[in-house]
Amino acid sequence: MTAYYLTTPIYYANDVPHIGHAYTTIAADAVARFRRLHGQDVFLLTGTDEHGVNIERIAAERGLSPQQHVDRLAASFRDLWAQLDISYDRFVRTTEPAHERAALELWRRLQSSGDLYRGVYEGAYCSRCEAYYQRDELVGADCPVHRLPCEQVQEENWFFRLSRYQDTLERLVRETDFVQPESRRNEVLGVLAQGLRDFSISRRQVRWGIAVPDAPDEVLYVWVDALANYLTGVGFPDDQSTFERYWPADVHIVGKEIIRFHCLYWPALLLSAGLPLPRRVFAHGWLTREGHKISKTTGNVIDPAALTRDFGADAVRYYFLRAIPFGQDGDIQHASFVARYNADLANDFGNLVQRATRLGSRDRCLQPPPESEPLGPAEEELREHARELSVRVGATVEALALHEAVTAISAFVGQANRYIEITAPWNLAKQGASDRLERVLDHVVEAARLAAWYYAPIIPRAATAAHQRLAGTPPSPGHGTFETGGRGTVVFGPPLFPRRE
Ligand code: MSP
Repeated sequence: MTAYYLTTPIYYANDVPHIGHAYTTIAADAVARFRRLHGQDVFLLTGTDEHGVNIERIAAERGLSPQQHVDRLAASFRDLWAQLDISYDRFVRTTEPAHERAALELWRRLQSSGDLYRGVYEGAYCSRCEAYYQRDELVGADCPVHRLPCEQVQEENWFFRLSRYQDTLERLVRETDFVQPESRRNEVLGVLAQGLRDFSISRRQVRWGIAVPDAPDEVLYVWVDALANYLTGVGFPDDQSTFERYWPADVHIVGKEIIRFHCLYWPALLLSAGLPLPRRVFAHGWLTREGHKISKTTGNVIDPAALTRDFGADAVRYYFLRAIPFGQDGDIQHASFVARYNADLANDFGNLVQRATRLGSRDRCLQPPPESEPLGPAEEELREHARELSVRVGATVEALALHEAVTAISAFVGQANRYIEITAPWNLAKQGASDRLERVLDHVVEAARLAAWYYAPIIPRAATAAHQRLAGTPPSPGHGTFETGGRGTVVFGPPLFPRRE
């Protein structure tokens, strides 16, 4: 079994999760589930980023110790992931002792490669991004992401020799698929064209962090601490066998505002530490409302927990994966959420499952159709659609074009519904054409089962329920092709997606 290791960013434990965090995590979970369904040995990592000056400040504002504060928030992320059926393999927290060991081992390696030196940093710092900015990157005096004033920092600390990796990184970004999609690769090339500058890798005026060895009044720069989570998650440095099984990561899925850290800092740190590089970084776009990035700071958040309570995890997962081309920005609206729910889930997929289970379970256990009953053009066409579906889903998941994977499955649902209309099994029953009816029912039930199998990574609850009703089993690897003849009892049940106004 080939291993597949993918990650989400670890989210700042400064406030409860919002829909942007949910979006990334849902997408990563869908990929993980697709890969598992195709028989891969998947490891999905998520977690929380719990250090830094911002978290220290917010905890103090709330009258909590930083640890109490991050404990509460890590729990709220885990709760939401449970509600959204996120099948992560490990939830990493940067305040765990295991993580401290990983981050310090990384530090030790950077030090022994000669890439750390003492220097003085003077300039702008955005504590919300936890990022240093050059003057020409600011918008007026504001941070380009949050549009809020940066603080002026001046301190002596450790620097990392990023500039040493300029050529290697340029080749990596230009000549490989390390950064995706294309628009983001160009952006990273733009940063490279300006020339990489060394960056401060420790902070003095921050206490809430991992203490730097032999410099007790300094902590690791929070981004280096955070990036190391991808190593911690798969056992570095203690559990060599897990680490070798999964590292390097196949993909880091991130939002587009953190590509500099993932596409430049991270590979440089790994090169310096003598560790293999992740295969790719995929940056998706921003969810926006009226054109503004949804964020706590902007104050335009949508509560994913409330949306999930109202519509169910499947509906939330479906909408975000279907409505926004993965990799691009997308404006989200309540009206389009309800419209898609009704059209795609209640009508198309929900209806296909209802029809197939009603027809299939009508009065008996479905029999294998008689050998003598030939396949007509409608059956040949349906099987051809099923072959195309398998090819399309394989290619789109590989490219992380998740919206196209969803579109391909929903197109197949449409084809299956049309097959029912063309073959009109209700007429065959009236005409007493029982062999033909047997053949048609077998195809209807199988088409619905196959749709449910492919939908399982997107809408796991409904797809699993549908697969159970149609095949008597949950979806499992190796059943993504059209299988006909001979099956157990088909069971009719209540609608999977009741219509909503
Ligand atoms: N802690 C850092 C990441 C460290 S990873 C080594 C961080 N945390 S964050 O809480 O700000 O989360 C940022 C991530 O959340 C984004 O990269 C993206 O994955 C997701 N999103 C947050 N807001 C979003 C939108 N409005 N739209 C889409 N994704 C968003 O940065």
